[in-house]
Amino acid sequence: MHKSILILGACGQIGTELTFALRETYGNESVIASDIREGSENLMDSGSFELLDATDYDVLEEVVAYYEIDEVYLMAAMLSATAEKFPERAWNLNMNSLFNVLNLAKDKKIKKIFWPSSIAVFGPNTPKTNTPQNTIMEPSTVYGISKQSGERWCDYYHHKFGVDVRSLRYPGLISWKTQPGGGTTDYAVEIYHKALAEGAYGCFLNEDTKLPMMFMDDAIKATQQLMATEAEKVKVRSSYNLSAMSFSPKEIAQNIKEHIPEFEISYKPDFRQDIADSWPNSIDDSKARQDWGWEPDFDLEKTTKVMLGNLKT
Ligand SMILES: NC(=O)c1ccc[n+]([C@@H]2O[C@H](COP(=O)([O-])OP(=O)(O)OC[C@H]3O[C@@H](n4cnc5c(N)ncnc54)[C@H](O)[C@@H]3O)[C@@H](O)[C@H]2O)c1
Repeated sequence: MHKSILILGACGQIGTELTFALRETYGNESVIASDIREGSENLMDSGSFELLDATDYDVLEEVVAYYEIDEVYLMAAMLSATAEKFPERAWNLNMNSLFNVLNLAKDKKIKKIFWPSSIAVFGPNTPKTNTPQNTIMEPSTVYGISKQSGERWCDYYHHKFGVDVRSLRYPGLISWKTQPGGGTTDYAVEIYHKALAEGAYGCFLNEDTKLPMMFMDDAIKATQQLMATEAEKVKVRSSYNLSAMSFSPKEIAQNIKEHIPEFEISYKPDFRQDIADSWPNSIDDSKARQDWGWEPDFDLEKTTKVMLGNLKT
């Protein structure tokens, strides 16, 4: 069946790859990319693009009507490290864009929503290892507070108004096609670039900071899989825990050394260390596995091989 998809924040780290993946699945003409800035040449050339501010309801409503949009993927947000610098701007962007999309669905102008949450919804009082789906959530970052509030609103709109909204708590995402956009796990992308370019990396987290991570292909696969699942099987309407691997800077550096023996890492923790310390080090995603068959393809070894292989050229 033909469907029309709108991606908000399509030029970012995830949005770019998601746009390509959805265009591959549904056809270039069915997937409209949008952002407040232009994206890569490939992205701009592969289908329709709209300059669109996700916090502007009127323009959003117009674009949705013009393209007869069925599904919206809301990828526009301010990420954890940047949000600590601009708390109010982060809150306004992260919440208002979500309300706009939820209200479009409530008013039956669109049928389905994908909105990403994050491991940042957890906080210092959350059990750190194998963090359960339902547990203590007292986020201590601006970003985490906005994501946790967002989850509650998604759940509310689903139960109160029947809105079909689906969400994943992404871990830190590792990609070679696009650069990360101001998060606390950005080091796990930078390290590959620097290992190849300079043979050394100065890490902004300390060596033992273990965090949940995922290769981008797995994140895109999970997103498409969740969106394709029959509505009755999507039991969690706040956001699903999602996991693939967990490692520390020391462990990823060790892994890179197996390919580049002369690689050296040094540590100079900055304000992002506090953010990382408040997050889990591993995630229990059994609910996602049970409800819609989630299974990751990439571990750290495979990720390192693909990252170095693709960035080398
Ligand atoms: N990358 C990760 O590791 C990660 C982890 C967990 C959750 N997430 C979530 O996934 C989503 C996408 O993250 P990302 O890493 O691609 O972020 P990103 O910063 O790389 O991209 C965000 C995009 O949104 C755009 N944008 C900003 N303000 C906008 C506005 N008002 N209207 C429209 N577009 C706007 C930016 O120009 C940018 O292209 C976010 O909700 C983020 O919180 C990301």
